[in-house]
Amino acid sequence: MSSKSEDQSLKSKVRSLKTKIALACLFTALTIVACSNGSAKRNEFSIAESKSSEASLFRQNCAICHGQEGNGKQMDGRLIPSLRYGAAATKTEEEIYLQIKEGKLPMPSFKNQLTEDEIKSMVRFIRRDLQDVK
Ligand code: HEC
Repeated sequence: MSSKSEDQSLKSKVRSLKTKIALACLFTALTIVACSNGSAKRNEFSIAESKSSEASLFRQNCAICHGQEGNGKQMDGRLIPSLRYGAAATKTEEEIYLQIKEGKLPMPSFKNQLTEDEIKSMVRFIRRDLQDVK
């Protein structure tokens, strides 16, 4: 056996191995994309793109602190909570209602800015659209 033909067969083995690895990577990537699409669905709602009246109330009154998409943000060294995940998702509707109506420092009360119906619609908005709780 010449070392040249051994070289050749080794090269072709390496090539087929490379193809297999590339295919495996491709499938893994596709699977990750497919799976992440499914799980990200609950949070896909875009406040910026929504034409609902609640979304526009949110943009006017809440986005400055809670972020454009309600994901929370850092402000003056303080973390303003996300309204989609975390503590907000564990609150009852009553607690969310009171938080908006009465405020809780440093969050202001909205009872002079929003009507009773608007506050209630914001509670539903947070639950249904941001947290995807039906
Ligand atoms: C001036 C900034 C500011 C504005 C404006 C604001 N918030 Fe907040 N909000 C906060 C802060 C800060 C907290 C956390 C309060 C705390 O630490 O208990 C909070 C907490 C909350 C919570 C409870 C979340 C949790 O994790 O406990 C809800 C619900 C909420 N806000 C809804 C709203 C809604 C709806 C609006 C608009 C109508 C709004 N907020 C406007 C600053 C703000």
